[in-house]
Amino acid sequence: ASLLALVKGMPKAELHIHIEGSLEPELIFALAHRNGVTLPYDSVEQLRRAYAFNDLQSFLDIYYAGTSVLLTEQDFYDMTWAYLQRAHADNICHTELFFDPQSHLSRGVNFAAIVGGIDRALGDAAAEWGMTSGLIMCFLRHLSEEDAFATLEQAMPYLPAIVGIGLDSSERDHPPEKFSRVFARCRELGLRLVAHAGEEGPPAYIRDALDLLHVARIDHGVRCLEDPALVELLRARQVPLTVCPKSNVKLKVFPQMAQHNLRALLDAGLMVTINSDDPAYFGGYMNENFTEIFSALPLDRDDALRLACNSFDAAFVNDATKVGYR
Ligand code: ADE
Ligand code: ZN
Repeated sequence: ASLLALVKGMPKAELHIHIEGSLEPELIFALAHRNGVTLPYDSVEQLRRAYAFNDLQSFLDIYYAGTSVLLTEQDFYDMTWAYLQRAHADNICHTELFFDPQSHLSRGVNFAAIVGGIDRALGDAAAEWGMTSGLIMCFLRHLSEEDAFATLEQAMPYLPAIVGIGLDSSERDHPPEKFSRVFARCRELGLRLVAHAGEEGPPAYIRDALDLLHVARIDHGVRCLEDPALVELLRARQVPLTVCPKSNVKLKVFPQMAQHNLRALLDAGLMVTINSDDPAYFGGYMNENFTEIFSALPLDRDDALRLACNSFDAAFVNDATKVGYR
């Protein structure tokens, strides 16, 4: 089989997908209609045309606008189920989903609807296909430490359904240290920890995510190559980097796929994985991320198998830990 057939067909784990970033324009309009929400766009086509981003913030503004249609448990189920069908079609057999409760709680949606709908869809994927999964609750880094603590308090009854904690949203000017105390509390609670770092922010934020937040994986992390001592640390500890090629091009972290540093990250001996980030906004799911970067860079079959193995090795939820979890 060809290299592209191999990357599409091989089993994979996805470790960096914001479930709200899987909301396709068609579903945004359908949910807006169902819920009587008025959108600042006239049509699916007009909304899709707005998906031209200059940087992370210009994307986040539209991403948060899209979430405004999510109100009920069924909405969260429908969004998650649509993603899981796409993931299954791409031969993803394990997925760890991020969700952003603060963007929903602030609109009056309750925690039970958010986690209930997402978790019900994950349960259906387990029953239908044997797909395994984990749920990672993210704090929005542009909001305060106090808001993160309040969110954690609200999440307490749902922690049995949550495997870990992440940190996302606007990276610049929101360093990891702002969240060191709330991450310490999450650690005491036995939650696994990850953080977005080194996407748009400097390599120092990757170091601080490791030293101050004690994260087990770095989301993105592509700017690590600017700091050779940091690369050596990431290599020696085999810290997983959840890289999202199409996201990086759409948000102009790299001008084109041919300029992406994935080849260099692998050559540096780093524990790299490929992921879709916000597939509805960046023009493709897991397999498009694989096929586009494999078409643009000198990557071969060994690299493909390495990336797939890494995705399982870097996963938090395995068969042993899953017992008693769902
Ligand atoms: N929220 C959703 N996608 C994100 C990304 N790529 N970086 C930071 N926050 C996000
Ligand atoms: Zn992300």
